[in-house]
Amino acid sequence: MKILVINGTPRKYGRTRIAANYIVEKYETDYVDLATFDLPLFNGEEAQGELSAVKELRKLAMEADAFVLTSPEYHNGMSGALKNALDFLGGKQFKHKPTALLAVAGGGKGGMNALQNMRIVMRGVYANTIPKQLILDPPGFNAETKTLNEKSKEQVDSLMQELIMYTKAYIQVIKPQMGEQ
Ligand SMILES: Cc1cc2nc3c(=O)[nH]c(=O)nc-3n(C[C@H](O)[C@H](O)[C@H](O)COP(=O)(O)O)c2cc1C
Repeated sequence: MKILVINGTPRKYGRTRIAANYIVEKYETDYVDLATFDLPLFNGEEAQGELSAVKELRKLAMEADAFVLTSPEYHNGMSGALKNALDFLGGKQFKHKPTALLAVAGGGKGGMNALQNMRIVMRGVYANTIPKQLILDPPGFNAETKTLNEKSKEQVDSLMQELIMYTKAYIQVIKPQMGEQ
């Protein structure tokens, strides 16, 4: 089972990255970390397809059976960095694949808009976005150790269990039919 985590915060110290790193380490997933990934601004030019970062992103996404998108909520939406990365991809990489969404907000009931925004965009690339989703606020993190607190870990684990369940179904039932479409 190959799961690809795409970390959507462009900030190296971003809380979203802490959540993404927890998933990557615990579940031994593949990783595209947009805080360090040298991805240009999508311009539609074919030459961008030859860039190593673009090739790597497309390869990892193509090989993935499932995805976790983690995004900060920035101005009521997903980060520009994540949307830009998704613009390099499409149905070829995402069609029918289970996708889990995790938003990290600044508090004050933020995060839902980023989740809704990601869900609409993932509909546009025919991903099979699972119903369970998660928002983490600043109290969900330990500011000193820069880690998730125990409750947040449990919530992330619960999201991952659900994603793994759907991914098993994708691998057993849907994936074998993909070549026939
Ligand atoms: C440009 C910008 C816009 C933001 N807009 C929102 C927002 O609309 N709602 C919200 O809850 N938090 C907002 N925040 C706070 C982030 O969601 C918060 O910092 C959170 O930790 C996730 O971002 P990070 O992973 O980059 O740290 C914003 C932060 C930045 C830098």
